[in-house]
Amino acid sequence: MRVERRRVDEAESRRANGPDWDRYADEYQATHGEFLGDVGFVWGPEGQTEEQLGILGPVAGRTVLEVGSGAGQCSRWVRRQGGRAFGLDLSHRQLQHGRRIDELTGTAVPSVRATATQLPFAESSFDVVFCSFGALQFVADIEQALAETARVMRRGGRFAFSITHPTRWMFPDDPGVAGLTATQSYWDRTPYVEIDDESGRVSYVEHHRTIGDWVRLLSGQGFVLVDVVEPEWPDDLDRVWGGWSRVRGLLTPGTAIFVCVLS
Ligand SMILES: C[S@@+](CC[C@H](N)C(=O)[O-])C[C@H]1O[C@@H](n2cnc3c(N)ncnc32)[C@H](O)[C@@H]1O
Repeated sequence: MRVERRRVDEAESRRANGPDWDRYADEYQATHGEFLGDVGFVWGPEGQTEEQLGILGPVAGRTVLEVGSGAGQCSRWVRRQGGRAFGLDLSHRQLQHGRRIDELTGTAVPSVRATATQLPFAESSFDVVFCSFGALQFVADIEQALAETARVMRRGGRFAFSITHPTRWMFPDDPGVAGLTATQSYWDRTPYVEIDDESGRVSYVEHHRTIGDWVRLLSGQGFVLVDVVEPEWPDDLDRVWGGWSRVRGLLTPGTAIFVCVLS
C-alpha cells in the first residue's frame, strides 16, 4: 500500500471505503469495541461520552438517525435512553457486527446499508441526526451529504458530528513526537489516499475541510452552528488510537464536534 494526496471523486471514494471498512471491520471492533462499549456513546478517541457532553440534548421520544453508525454502539445507547435511533452505514461487515451486538445486549438498532450522500428516508423524518466519526470525512460530495441530512431532518432539529480536528491535517498521522511537527499545509484540501500496490486501485480515502469550509458548508444548507466542541485529552487516558495519543493529545486537539440546529 502506498499513500498519496490526490483528487478523488465521490464514486471512487465510495468504491474504496465500502470494501475497506468491510475488510477492516473485524479488526476495528476487536481493537476498539471494548473502549466504545456495546451500549456506549463515545464521541472520539479522547473517550468523552454523550452522557458527559450532552451534545444532542434529551433524546427520549426523539427519532434519531446515526450516519456512519458502524456497529451501532451510539445508537444503542440512544435507544436505552428512550430515543428511536436508526443506524446507516456503507459497510455490510460493520452492520453484521451491529446485529451480533444487538443479540448480545438485547437492544436492537434497526439499520440500513446505504451511503451518506443518498439517505433512503422521506423528508422531515428525524428530530436528530448525528455522526460519531462516521461517514462525513470519507465522503467527497460533502455538499450532497449535508443537503441529504437537511432534507431528512425536521426544522429545529439538531445535527452533530465528530471528525478528525481539521488542524490535524497539518501534521503527519503519527501518535509519537513526529506527529507534533507541522509538515503539510492546513489549506491543502487534496484528499489523503491509500493505493493498493497489487491492483493499483484506490483502497482508502479521507477528505479534509478547514474549519471555515465547514462553517460555509453548514450555513449553505440552512444549519445554524451553535458550538464546536474540542475535547481535551483526559488526565487518566493513556491509549493510542491511530494518530491519537496522550503525547499529541495534551498539546493539540484531535477531534472536533460540530453542533448545529436546522433553521
Ligand atoms: C470510524 S467508523 C465510526 C463508526 C461508529 N460511529 C463508531 O464510533 O464506531 C466510520 C464508519 O463510517 C462508515 N462510512 C464510511 N463512508 C460512509 C458513507 N459514505 N456512508 C455511510 N457510512 C460510511 C464506515 O463504514 C464506518 O463504519
